[in-house]
Amino acid sequence: MQIYKVGGAVRDRLLGRPVSDIDWLVVGATVEQMQAQGFRPVGADFPVFIHPKTGEEYALARTERKSGRGYGGFTFHASPEVTLEEDLIRRDLTINAMAEDEQGTLYDPYHGKQDLDARILRHVSPAFAEDPLRVLRVARFAARYAPLGFRVADDTLKLMRQIAESGELQALTAERSWKEIERALLESEPQVFIQVLHSCGALQELMPELMHNSDSLITLHQAAQHQQSLAVRWACLLRGLASAAIKAINQRFKAPRECQELAVLIGEWADRADQALELAPAELLEMLQKFDVYRRPQRFEEFIETCRMGALPEDQGYPQAEYLRGAATTARAVDVKPLMDSGLSGQALGEALKAERLKALMAYRNR
Ligand code: CTP
Repeated sequence: MQIYKVGGAVRDRLLGRPVSDIDWLVVGATVEQMQAQGFRPVGADFPVFIHPKTGEEYALARTERKSGRGYGGFTFHASPEVTLEEDLIRRDLTINAMAEDEQGTLYDPYHGKQDLDARILRHVSPAFAEDPLRVLRVARFAARYAPLGFRVADDTLKLMRQIAESGELQALTAERSWKEIERALLESEPQVFIQVLHSCGALQELMPELMHNSDSLITLHQAAQHQQSLAVRWACLLRGLASAAIKAINQRFKAPRECQELAVLIGEWADRADQALELAPAELLEMLQKFDVYRRPQRFEEFIETCRMGALPEDQGYPQAEYLRGAATTARAVDVKPLMDSGLSGQALGEALKAERLKALMAYRNR
């Protein structure tokens, strides 16, 4: 059997980027031979094994045929006769279809190195269309490597458009799509992900609500520049949409709870945050109560940061941020103990606490 390093590890080494995990490809072996050597199979019908010592993934060379619509519709054909070239040709991009043997010799039948040097994301063959998730993967790689000057090849964009127009993207599961979206949002140029999806017709299929929301791309870019969290980036992307649209996108991709929550809160409260300096103390208090800043200070902080990202490009600063932080600190500082000591409890205590907080916010405003 022959063992090769493949995919991202080869690509990122050639790019001089840190390699996180290594995928190995095994040519000329059977499932039985792998097991005899102590490799543990990952799943019942997927020819992938875990190395007994290193824990790294070893996949048997395989060809892939499509048997049905969407994910789960794959059949894998793995056998000792499948060659390195046959395995590599069914991969997504030429830059991901290079292999390296144990001596460090590069195998590059589809000219990935040339595309790497020319900064081009190009599909290897028509087999690209076998997995519609690759449309999102290409957009994600475009976002990741944008600082290096990469672009998507025209023919690849055309193929991505065909996939989008075929309706195949609708068959992707929320989990697979979200994983790509999440990874793309955390890249340094996440807006490129959305731009590429837009340019091939995939945005229309996946997030039609965003088709006319180009301001949010600037905000998202700012969020990435300021190393904001995933939830902040997601909320920046959805900012400006109506509440119903935000909820629809959240659910479509089953975004994690903290992402969903922040996006919804932005939809409901961002405009008032922008007006923070003019808000009456009672309105300010309503906001703080709604955000439950007493128990969830971090969520309010992420909300403020999302609003700040939306104001940044104008570079006027965002005094609302400090003002809102100060208001939250003021309301949180109100001590419940004297009220309890005076014998208050239950609803009456809640009302009294609210009244004290309102007083404190009035003083804060007039300071
Ligand atoms: N691959 C593919 N089509 C997919 C997923 C993966 O062709 N839908 C192939 C590519 O050759 C890829 C390799 O499998 O390089 C490993 O996939 P994965 O670990 O998901 O990605 P990496 O290329 O390692 O990239 P990343 O740095 O994003 O992990």
